[in-house]
Order: sequence, then C-alpha cells, then structure tokens
Amino acid sequence: MTSRVAAVIPAAGSGQRMGRSTPKQFLRLDGVPILVHTLKVFEASPLIHEVCLVVPQGREKQCREELLEPYGLKKVTQTVPGGATRQDSVYRGLSTISPEAVRVVVHDGVRPFLSPELLKRVIKASETGDGAIAAVPLKDTPKYVHENGTVDRTPDRARLYLAQTPQVFLKNILIEAYSKAYVDGVNSTDDSALVERLGYRVRVVEGTWDNIKITTADDLDLAEKIIRMRRSERKRAKR
Ligand code: C5P
Repeated sequence: MTSRVAAVIPAAGSGQRMGRSTPKQFLRLDGVPILVHTLKVFEASPLIHEVCLVVPQGREKQCREELLEPYGLKKVTQTVPGGATRQDSVYRGLSTISPEAVRVVVHDGVRPFLSPELLKRVIKASETGDGAIAAVPLKDTPKYVHENGTVDRTPDRARLYLAQTPQVFLKNILIEAYSKAYVDGVNSTDDSALVERLGYRVRVVEGTWDNIKITTADDLDLAEKIIRMRRSERKRAKR
C-alpha cells in the first residue's frame, strides 16, 4: 500500500506586489481563479490523499463557498487562516494534517501550471530520501554582488538552480524543521531551506519553466500567454 500523502497549499498572501486589492490567488485565468487551477491538479492526482488550503484570515468561508464547492474540490479537508509570513502559513497548515499522513507536499497556491507529471516525479524522488524539490537550472550567468553594486564574483552556473514548488518531505522531518526554525529565529520563504539546515538530504528534480509563480502583473501577462499556448497545443493535438 502506498503511504498517505497530504498537501499543504499556502495561499494566504495579500498580493501586494500585484498592485491590486484582490489577492492574486483569486484573480481569474481563463475564467477560473488561479487557486482553483492549482487545486485541480491535486484533486486529480491519485498520489494525493488530502489537501490543506491556507487562505487569508477571514476568507475561509468565502473560499469554501466560492472556490471549493463550485469546482468540486473534495480533497480539501481543511481550510485554515494563514499567518503574517509564508512560513507562518505553511506551519499552520502543517499542524492540521491528519496523523496518518507520512509525506507532505508543499506547493504555492499561485503556481497554477504545475503538471501532474512533475508532481509525480517529485513525490517519487522523495520516496528514496528525506525530501525532494522541483528546481530549474539557471539560464543566465549569476553574479554575486557587493552591497556597493560592484561584482564580487561569478559562481559556477552549472551548479546553480532556482527552487520551485512542489517540495515534498517526510512529515516528521518537515514538522521538526519548522519547529526548529522558530526556536532558532529563522525565517525562510523556502521549505527546503529549513530542512537542509538540519542536515537532511534533499533531492533535486528538474522542474519546468512554465511552473511560474504569479507574483507581479508581468507574471499575470505571462500566465495568459501560457494559457493561450496550451490551448493552441490542445487544438493541434486534436487535428
Ligand atoms: O509572496 P510569495 O510569492 O512568496 O508567496 C508564495 C505563496 O505563499 C503564495 O501562494 C502566497 O499566497 C503564500 N503566502 C501565504 N502566507 C503569507 C504570504 C504568502 O500563504 N503570509
């Protein structure tokens, strides 16, 4: 029998960088809220057994009525209010998942283009170690820059990746990593960073370039382009 996998979807950001009053996770893409696009991937995956959705404080009921019920998102068993930082939001989500869950997938609510195939690859990779994350190799040459704006050095690009989500960990390890981070006063926007600092081994699985995080208005434009591209690909495949 496969072990139980829970997902925590942090979606409690205020979306300030988007410059709109509606948080970005509730904006529509192709007529459907961004967050619903994301949740549908988890709903459809046979590898996911339960989902905890973390939403802005006070929006729990609205999310259940306007997102979960109309779109039939039955795997979401918990809708919990988030905290001041992403870390606080994930921690709140983590504390509500069922005791039977063995692994936890953390995935940003604002990454709606996660493919079922990437989700599967990261979960499978996590089964052979402490955890696994999706990440993409750098395309441009990175520079380490002094505070005064001049180049300090040029790190080797071949070894550098940009972390994405999904990130998958054994539940006990992730809870330990979060608890220790609070004890040590560490705050991170990356779950893996909290696990790595305790010496656990995290595998890297190559992510996809369209698994973007919708943060700014430019990202929303790019997301609309990705939707159009996918639509024309589907049309071509039908011919
Ligand atoms: O702000 P950032 O781009 O890092 O957000 C990544 C994800 O974390 C988003 O889905 C956002 O809604 C979520 N988040 C959260 N609670 C916060 C801040 C961000 O759940 N306090």
